[in-house]
Amino acid sequence: MRIDKCRIINFPRIAEPRGNLSFIEEKNHIPFPIRRVYYLYDVPSGATRGGHAHKKCQQIIIALSGSFEVVLDDGERRKTFFLNRPFYGLYIPTGIWRELENFSSNSVALSIVSQLYDEADYIRDYETFKRQVKNGGWK
Ligand code: TYD
Repeated sequence: MRIDKCRIINFPRIAEPRGNLSFIEEKNHIPFPIRRVYYLYDVPSGATRGGHAHKKCQQIIIALSGSFEVVLDDGERRKTFFLNRPFYGLYIPTGIWRELENFSSNSVALSIVSQLYDEADYIRDYETFKRQVKNGGWK
């Protein structure tokens, strides 16, 4: 199933009494070239982000601070990931519908993305997404 390609990546963690450090290297930890980074912050409680799929974009989402849930949907199956530690990244390949919800206060969601921003890469209508899956969009 395509949903099984969505997975948690563990980033290195250097723990010291003076604080922890994690790092991310393109070829070693990210399975695509890094073209863009963006972050969500000041998300009001009860708000939902996402609500779309991408035709080409691959993405990694990290809870740099706080916590939230990411509901993923490949058009056939759904899976929910709870992100609450900055050394876990959720890898989302192309053609997966995502919703981010239940943000804790002060949460920061960092996204590392394989493409520059392009609205034409978005599918924002769920029925269109389902149709594209049915027509073999991301086989
Ligand atoms: P959107 O991707 O819909 O946000 P989310 O999926 O996190 O809920 O983007 C919200 C707005 O920000 C939309 O008008 C497009 C714009 N935007 C950019 O200009 N550049 C970017 O890199 C991103 C991710 C969004």
